[in-house]
Amino acid sequence: MSFKLGRYTDDGRPFELPVSAAIQRFAFLAKSGAGKTYCAADLAEEMLKNGVPIIVIDPMGIWWGLRKASDGKSDGYPVVVFGGDHGDLALDEKKAEDLARAIVESNISAVIDVAELSHAALQRFIPPFLEELRHVNVEDRHIFIEEADVIAPQKPGPDETRCLGAVDVFVRRGGNKNLGTTLISQRSAVVNKNVLTQSDFLVVLRTTAPQDKEAVAAWAVAKSADRKELNAWLDSLAKLRNGEAYVWGELPGAGGEVDVQKVKVQFRLRETFHATRENLKKFKGVKPMPVDEFVAKFSKIFEGEAPPVFTPEHLRSKARESREQEDEQDWSEFEPRLRALEEKLA
Ligand SMILES: Nc1ncnc2c1ncn2[C@@H]1O[C@H](COP(=O)(O)OP(=O)(O)O)[C@@H](O)[C@H]1O
Ligand SMILES: [Mg+2]
Repeated sequence: MSFKLGRYTDDGRPFELPVSAAIQRFAFLAKSGAGKTYCAADLAEEMLKNGVPIIVIDPMGIWWGLRKASDGKSDGYPVVVFGGDHGDLALDEKKAEDLARAIVESNISAVIDVAELSHAALQRFIPPFLEELRHVNVEDRHIFIEEADVIAPQKPGPDETRCLGAVDVFVRRGGNKNLGTTLISQRSAVVNKNVLTQSDFLVVLRTTAPQDKEAVAAWAVAKSADRKELNAWLDSLAKLRNGEAYVWGELPGAGGEVDVQKVKVQFRLRETFHATRENLKKFKGVKPMPVDEFVAKFSKIFEGEAPPVFTPEHLRSKARESREQEDEQDWSEFEPRLRALEEKLA
């Protein structure tokens, strides 16, 4: 059993990690559109396939796609979705501890779609959720955190320190309770360095911004003797294609021996649905109402006369107006209609 994630780019050998990696710490860093979510989802699929329950904290509202096969239609993995447009159950930020206990007690996998929570609500939700999870967890379990820079920022505001502290402790000590983590961020430079440098595996995809390269370096310098070589490598990150990554950590070499090394791999295609907004558009398309149908339905509103508003109130006010103008003729015109209408309504 292993996590089959893709292939080495140099010789095409399969790139695999042992299932024991489920309780280790990963960081997926790259600029937007390089394949972070996609490749982290490969890892999630491998865990689901190997019976390791996962939890995804998803501020983007796209991880529900694990439930669907890659065609977006047939079944994917049985993952319970909390919150969001695809939620099986609503997400109540005040029930963070209940949620953690329910997930652990039942050993389900879950996507927690927090896209609709305000920043303040998210900051309130995360600490009790992670603390309770760590408190009650027993079996191997892996937590994916999208947009890790939001809940573990390098420079937290006064209202963000509690959440950052909770994430820090969770990542640091989660392993003792068989909890692994994957942090995902497109803003490497602003993810908290204390949290980031704890990662066992760094997965770096296409990265171009100098400040983001520095964040990668913050992790890498401890593991790399030669700064010049490191700089050349950092520059090469700009050329990586989608889904192409350097994985750096304790990895089995060609001979099977485990060593801290960095390897270049191409992550495999997803088995489940990559539910980004662009993909959803591609799959669904927008079907306009046929022109005839539209004209028939809306012509009354845009072309027809507005329906008359001859309520008794309306007629009385008209009558008053007329009287004020001492125009007896107008009033007499309205009188019989008013009486008829009142009779009808009586
Ligand atoms: N391993 C891969 N194999 C093939 N295509 C990939 C792979 N990883 C990413 N892609 C492509 O790149 C696009 C962007 O990936 P995504 O994970 O959404 O980017 P990010 O999360 O970094 O913003 C995907 O929609 C997909 O088309
Ligand atoms: Mg993404």
